[in-house]
Amino acid sequence: MENMYVFYDGKIVPESEVHISIRCKGFNYGLGCFEGIRAYWDDAEKQLYAFRMREHYERLLQSCKTLYINIPYTVEELCQATLDLLKKHNFHSTVYIRPLAFKGSDQIFPTLLDDDNRIVIYCQPLGSFVGKDELRAAFTSWERLGDNMLPPRTKPTAAYLNSGLASLEVVRRGYDEALFLTRNGHVCEGPGENVFMVRKGKLITPPPSDNILEGITRDTVMILAREELGIEVIERSITRTELYAADEVFFSGTAMEVVAVVEVDDRRIGTGQQGPVCRKLKELFFQVATARLKKYADFCMPVY
Ligand SMILES: Cc1ncc(COP(=O)(O)O)c(C=O)c1O
Repeated sequence: MENMYVFYDGKIVPESEVHISIRCKGFNYGLGCFEGIRAYWDDAEKQLYAFRMREHYERLLQSCKTLYINIPYTVEELCQATLDLLKKHNFHSTVYIRPLAFKGSDQIFPTLLDDDNRIVIYCQPLGSFVGKDELRAAFTSWERLGDNMLPPRTKPTAAYLNSGLASLEVVRRGYDEALFLTRNGHVCEGPGENVFMVRKGKLITPPPSDNILEGITRDTVMILAREELGIEVIERSITRTELYAADEVFFSGTAMEVVAVVEVDDRRIGTGQQGPVCRKLKELFFQVATARLKKYADFCMPVY
């Protein structure tokens, strides 16, 4: 993107100055992992708040450890680099931040045993990702990757080909978003977001053992449902037809935020409109993300 800066090789530099080889293993083999973070602009306070940034960098460093991508920065240093990068752009709108850790070497073999570990952080303004309040979803025929194949928990770049194939299939069939099943037929997640259902007054979401990414928005939604709405939250496996029988279904994710799913596989969910639990959680989520609920002030790191 023009006139943008990135954090690369320990410095903030113009994006146009970063050149990565076509032979780079991160590019050739997907040897990398990444994060997606949002910073929310609050126009009343004229402040930008990075949302749960520490947790995102903790997850990135954990992923890097699993994948043998040795990044020489602490969580605090990565947070500081991101704050500096956001300040450099002087953003006055909500922003999406993309830290990407990868193997930079040009060697032809896809080994993780080399010392060329890199991280780049770039960012861009991003409002609503889907631009809709209600989505129609369908299960894809592509199976979700497993922890023993390409661990989804680590948000590996290569896994997004699995996500891309799922989206391609269902979007071409006229739906808004895909849902994955695991090999043993459990509801997993969407291509880039977690899934929840409301059934008989309880909020239920698949457990980490069903090959989901342990979403930070998912965690926020679970906290808000318990603490603010007094709803029981359960992490357990869900089957496909149980989702059809739900009173409400919704997605959660950094890019997606909180969005209702009103139809799954051409079956209407509940009333066929955004339900009350999703609506309340979405409102609470945006209040928390813009530091309006003091109880959750720790989730928001002011940039200016
Ligand atoms: C596959 C997948 N699942 C779930 C999520 C949601 O995670 P988070 O809420 O931490 O953004 C994402 C987005 O990062 C994702 O890519």
